[in-house]
Amino acid sequence: MTYNEIRKVFLDYFEQHGHKIVPSASLIPNDPTLLFTVAGMVQWKGVFQGTEQPIAPRVADVQKCIRAGGKHNDLEDVGFDGRHHTFFEMLGNWSFGDYFKEGAIEMSWELLTKVIGLDPNRIVVTTHISDNEATQIWKKITGKDAIRLDKDNWWSAGDTGPCGPCTEMHYDMNPNMAGGLPGSPEEDCGRFVEIWNDVFMQYDRDANGNLTPLPKQNVDTGAGLERWAAVLQGKQDNYDTDLFVNLKRAVSDLTGVIETEENKPSFKIITDHLRSVGFAIADGVIPSNADRGYVIRRILRRAMRHGQILGHRGSLLSELYPALVAEMGDAYPELKTQQSHVVEIIRNEETSFADMLQNGMKLLESELPKINNGILPGDIAFKLFDTYGFPLDLTQMILRDKKIDVDINGFEKCMAEQKERSRADTRGTKLLWESQTDLPDTDDIEKYETKTDKPATVLSILRGEEFVKSANAGDEVEIALNHTPFYGTQGGQVGDMGVFKRGDEIVMNVSETNRVGHNVIHKGTLVAPVSVGDEIMPEINQQNRQQIARAHTATHLLQAALRKVLNEDVEQRGSKVSPDSVRFDFSFGRALTVEEKQAVEDLINQWIQSDLPVAHEEMDIESAKKRGAMALFGEKYGDRVRVITAGDVSCELCGGTHVYHTGEIIKARINKEKSISSGIRRITMSVGVLAE
Ligand code: SER
Repeated sequence: MTYNEIRKVFLDYFEQHGHKIVPSASLIPNDPTLLFTVAGMVQWKGVFQGTEQPIAPRVADVQKCIRAGGKHNDLEDVGFDGRHHTFFEMLGNWSFGDYFKEGAIEMSWELLTKVIGLDPNRIVVTTHISDNEATQIWKKITGKDAIRLDKDNWWSAGDTGPCGPCTEMHYDMNPNMAGGLPGSPEEDCGRFVEIWNDVFMQYDRDANGNLTPLPKQNVDTGAGLERWAAVLQGKQDNYDTDLFVNLKRAVSDLTGVIETEENKPSFKIITDHLRSVGFAIADGVIPSNADRGYVIRRILRRAMRHGQILGHRGSLLSELYPALVAEMGDAYPELKTQQSHVVEIIRNEETSFADMLQNGMKLLESELPKINNGILPGDIAFKLFDTYGFPLDLTQMILRDKKIDVDINGFEKCMAEQKERSRADTRGTKLLWESQTDLPDTDDIEKYETKTDKPATVLSILRGEEFVKSANAGDEVEIALNHTPFYGTQGGQVGDMGVFKRGDEIVMNVSETNRVGHNVIHKGTLVAPVSVGDEIMPEINQQNRQQIARAHTATHLLQAALRKVLNEDVEQRGSKVSPDSVRFDFSFGRALTVEEKQAVEDLINQWIQSDLPVAHEEMDIESAKKRGAMALFGEKYGDRVRVITAGDVSCELCGGTHVYHTGEIIKARINKEKSISSGIRRITMSVGVLAE
């Protein structure tokens, strides 16, 4: 059975068993605790937790997943065995309070043994040590004794959230091979491969590890499509199945190199990385220096290194992308609709890294003869990182064959020193901007609307320490526009992130927005060339803005609650409002008691639940004072001010951005309360999904 056939057989089976078939969710999860969608269940987390309604009691799909960062990370293993991938497809079926252990196990077993026809004798099952029920169900249905395991048979997507015991089905890939059963010390031999995992989602785990039963008993199953293909095509190695054979052929065609035992890891790494990079960018990830953008940049650079091992120079994944579209574009149409965008982004990345890779390798090779203790000095690894763009794991991967480690402590020390220098640089760029006395003020009134429909003109570009007329893809720059909807960091509220676009094309990823005097300065990485005078469309990241807005309104509620619970003399002394988190400093002479903290948190959540309207009004300062609007101690205000009023509980002068109903905040949770100086306390609080 080919990949296309397996997807169909799986979905048909579950459709016949009353499941609603849904498309794969995006690889970018709507979940701040995860970098990528790591499993089919990610999009159902809210349903398990009871905060969202299921679209049907039974659902099935084929989900694209990336496990390359955070709790679920297979990056280092790719290439060196036949069953690890950074990108893979997960076949899954779910029950939201409908069938439970027996139904799930029955269907898994029937599909494996009756529908796709696996030999029941070659399937080994495991259950959680505590799960007698599942163990007995297996015995009843199959006559099999499950192997009872502890840590491997408990599943959760992140450190917190829905979780539960699971039961895994393993297939014996080769009864003639020596090898250990799951749970035994030799289990990594590759003889027994996990082909399906049925998780019984029963609990919600909080940050302290406490388990609370979920509102309903649910089933979450996941089966790796690549492993099914290997089993059904009689291959020991996932990378020898039809889809990968075709992708590897494209690698051979491009590089002119035939796959051999020796270069096999490079073929695996390139084809795997083609999938994660291609799919992630098609879903909107842009390679960058932070978070998921950095994971994708690292993966892309690792792939290029393996292209180099095969003797290939220059563009690699951008040339191979059409082969990926040919293989998977029917199952995932976004690969086709985003084709020109994806190819362009990858090509830009590859172009900017190609020379650095050659030169960095030269540096590394010149260092190797000096190593006599098997350790590459941290400052060399840092130079490779800082000057040649070698992510640490790329350097480690290159040295892996040579059995050389990297001095990680030394690397981190250099990194910390560089951060300090860059903090000094930010102060430096501020001075440079201040020297631009002819620069017209930025009109940023659109920040309150969150978007603009008029193109903006690029007024000034700062690259390094130099103002330039134009800059290229890959350049880190700061840009001033004539008008912008981006909020520049001020009044304790962090600035926006987002993109500049030309038509549908992204030309810049804005990672930070600052204010210098009357100007808003957008900082980030160019994806395409930009010149002074160009017109672009500035678009903020709305989700990030919403997280900031709810944190900001929550800060006002926090101040109001503190004044109610403690006393009216409590005054704000500083704050930092970030996406879904708040740091609030206030005047108060002693630590809060546990009861006081709880009362403050409860009051805020009560106001959130009442969904109070939040009014945003502009007025003159006198009218604001008459209203009783609270002002910040020591702050200077202009004649016209903005007043933010939440129901009848809070009224403050504030230039920040806010939600329109307190219900949008979802939830607030106080994390810490401490003293920062005499008479000043600091509270840190999470809101929104993070607090939940
Ligand atoms: N969430 C479980 C897993 O990823 C089952 O789908 O293995």
